[in-house]
Amino acid sequence: MLNFDYYNKTNFIFGKETEKRLSSLIPKGVKKVLIHYGGGSIKRSGLYDTVIKQLTDANIAFVELGGVVANPRLLKVYEGIEICSKENVDFILAVGGGSVIDSAKAIACGNNYDGDVWDLYVGKGQIEGTTPLATILTIPAAGSEVSADTVITKEEGQLKRAYSHISLRPVFSIMNPVLTMTLPAYQTACGIVDMLAHTFERYFTKESNVELTDRMAEGLMKTIINIGPKVLAKPDNYDYRGEIMWAGTHAHSGLLGTGRSDDWASHMIEHEISGIYDIAHGAGLSIVFPAWMKFVYKTDLPRFAAWANRVFDIEINPNDLEETALKGIFALEMFYKSLNMPIRLSDADIVDNQYELMANKATNHDNNTLGNFVKLSKNDIIEILTLAK
Ligand code: NZQ
Ligand code: ZN
Repeated sequence: MLNFDYYNKTNFIFGKETEKRLSSLIPKGVKKVLIHYGGGSIKRSGLYDTVIKQLTDANIAFVELGGVVANPRLLKVYEGIEICSKENVDFILAVGGGSVIDSAKAIACGNNYDGDVWDLYVGKGQIEGTTPLATILTIPAAGSEVSADTVITKEEGQLKRAYSHISLRPVFSIMNPVLTMTLPAYQTACGIVDMLAHTFERYFTKESNVELTDRMAEGLMKTIINIGPKVLAKPDNYDYRGEIMWAGTHAHSGLLGTGRSDDWASHMIEHEISGIYDIAHGAGLSIVFPAWMKFVYKTDLPRFAAWANRVFDIEINPNDLEETALKGIFALEMFYKSLNMPIRLSDADIVDNQYELMANKATNHDNNTLGNFVKLSKNDIIEILTLAK
């Protein structure tokens, strides 16, 4: 078990009508709030009106910036930074999903950095702290309502990059499962894939003696696999929506990574796919993960066999752990298919074979290898993308 620091300051306000507590949660002394949102789902659902009413009734000044797109863009971030500086914004409220929250986090960074905020995403700058931010989450998926991470795409060069800073953990996150009932089935499924992926990135580790976090991760994976199809079958079921929403937060709170090394190679490879082809992050992950697993499973057969057994109830064949591991990977593919998610690049109409370009972009910014469970070279990434063909 490795040493770790684990600090999670976020106050989670979970349940029905919790968005109506918004004004009481905004810290006293805040002078002006920037409300940041996406392409219109919050206006259609009525959440936007609730937010405006909450702030207006409590005499909290605000400005707003909508129009964040999925796979959020740097240009919108610049726009937000300019508004913050012109309007003296001292608190940012992200209302939406991972894209909106990540854009809000980028603005919170840029508001506290003299140079180009993109510097942070390419390892050329650091900040001491950020403008405080909070979220009202509308899609369980990315886990940005709890994470210290932000992922932004720079239009020029189609570069999708991440930055982490401990102060980016939200002050509070309002999570009302009812607000997720308007999600299309596809976005719900993308979210299920993403939260499962966040668990895999931590579960497949080289560390031993991490039974507590292993078992917690297995419980989470089993829950997501059990509830995921149910939420798709009954999108208005509050309890299913609630379970999936809370699962998404735990998948990316960092708790499951304590004492162990994370991997994240699959996420980095996926960011190259959604950076170029602008597909949903979850759709990229259901393509990359089975291929990554097929490439790395022999590194630790007992771990893969235990995963197949504990998560997918596949009987362990003690004489052939490879068979058990492969059955687990197949079961994962079948699970993704049952959610109508792509499991090959061609399923997402990606057929132009730009594997070398993606592998180059993925390795150029990370000491030329990706991941920890297995350190992947550029050629390894090309092989993984070929397996995902
Ligand atoms: O823009 P609107 O109109 O709100 O529509 C959104 C968007 O089109 C829609 N939506 C959200 N809530 C809805 C809704 N539609 C109907 N009803 C609702 N209640 O869903 C679409 C997708 O939203 P988005 O925010 O893009 O989804 P998600 O939460 O999956 O975020 C994806 C982004 O997060 C990044 C991904 O790379 C991607 O850019 N990630 C962020 C992480 C982090 N910050 O910790 C970690 C992740 O691994 C991930 O990389
Ligand atoms: Zn993810």
